[in-house]
Amino acid sequence: MPQRETWATRVGFILAAIGSAVGLGNLWQFPFKTATNGGAAFVVFYLVAVLLIGFPAMLAEFSLGRRTKRNAVDAFSRMGHRSWRIVGVLAVLTGFWILSYYNVVGGWVMRYILGSATGAYFDDPAAYFGAVSSGPEAVVAQALFLGIVVAIVALGIEDGIERATKVMVPSIVVLMIALAVWVATLPGAAEGYAFFLSPNVDTMIANAGSIIPFAVGQAFFTLSLGMAIMITYSSYVGRDDNLIVDGASVVVTNTIVGVLAGLVVFPILLTIGADVTTDTGGAGALFVATAAGFGSVPFGRLFGIVFFGVVLIAALSSAISLLEVTVSYANDNFDVSRPVLSIGIGIALFLLGVPSAMDTAWLTWFDNFAYQVFLPLSVLLLIVFVGWVVGQEALEELLSGAEGYRTFGTVWLWTIRIVVVIAVLATLALGVNEMFL
Ligand code: PHE
Ligand code: NA
Repeated sequence: MPQRETWATRVGFILAAIGSAVGLGNLWQFPFKTATNGGAAFVVFYLVAVLLIGFPAMLAEFSLGRRTKRNAVDAFSRMGHRSWRIVGVLAVLTGFWILSYYNVVGGWVMRYILGSATGAYFDDPAAYFGAVSSGPEAVVAQALFLGIVVAIVALGIEDGIERATKVMVPSIVVLMIALAVWVATLPGAAEGYAFFLSPNVDTMIANAGSIIPFAVGQAFFTLSLGMAIMITYSSYVGRDDNLIVDGASVVVTNTIVGVLAGLVVFPILLTIGADVTTDTGGAGALFVATAAGFGSVPFGRLFGIVFFGVVLIAALSSAISLLEVTVSYANDNFDVSRPVLSIGIGIALFLLGVPSAMDTAWLTWFDNFAYQVFLPLSVLLLIVFVGWVVGQEALEELLSGAEGYRTFGTVWLWTIRIVVVIAVLATLALGVNEMFL
């Protein structure tokens, strides 16, 4: 087995984890779900889900990954009976599945950067979206996006992923702040902020039935959990890093970028008088409504290039993390070089993504299945494993490098054992019910 790589720096690990977490979930889903589900009231609710469920689950992945220093599949058999490997296999498959259509959306984003430069979508954003989102051109764009991802992962942890995300993540944050300042000057800014953030407890209560499962599902998706990404990334981390602080940095930055996205998007939408209450989470929200805004605000082209540029960077750093999971597993188990593995797995991903690129109905189906079945099931099994099978040893691992945190750690262990398990079970039941019954 080849010598296992490590991160060059602790910051490199944190930035890579943030790069994975910050993605389309922040820039697209979060603002729209917030706006239509009670504004600031929803943000509070979402924060509770992230802190009470997402954060503990992330620490579970961290402790398992660093304890075993193995890829996601072998991590399970190292700490428990061989049959637990199935959980790792499920997580790797979930990541593979999600990446197959994530690449397609990444391809759209590349097309939109081009479309911003030429103004191609300004006249009829809906028609442009229809034209680029499916069909042979979408397949080509998917291949291009995936090609970049493969190239970075092929270079390895330190030279590829760490180096890339060290530039990408600060760029995302800086550019989002710049965009937020810029849109503050638009005439619809005040109205946009009010729509995004004014607390509406009544709406929140009225929608509680759908908000709760969404908030839990979103807490996992937005933090990139259940796909063994954080297990894999933390397997390259040193024993004296404080995983609790690292995890908190990821959670906080991830939330900040989501809020920034809302502060950018809604002033634009209300300036052009778009109907923001309908067509919420769908692709149209970002690729049609927001795109329409760039057609009518001053400096719209530049605006569009920068905005979709940020979306592209965020999508790339998330896709990198997804591909790394599979490559890491294969790299630990087969005597084949990382570049060859990256390319081979890339080709398989491309083929699995072709249906999603040819028809958005397939993409939606892949996404729903991932969100409602794969993710919650995968997180549930992971949490049961770390909480009940590994248990105390996971706690000790978490406390390595975080010695003053024993009380926190004990609360953490019981939170994943009980609170998280119940929350995920409920989410899974609702998801399966919606998907199949
Ligand atoms: N966490 C990313 C987001 O919020 C999405 C993602 C999911 C990334 C799965 C990697 C893996 O957009
Ligand atoms: Na996210």
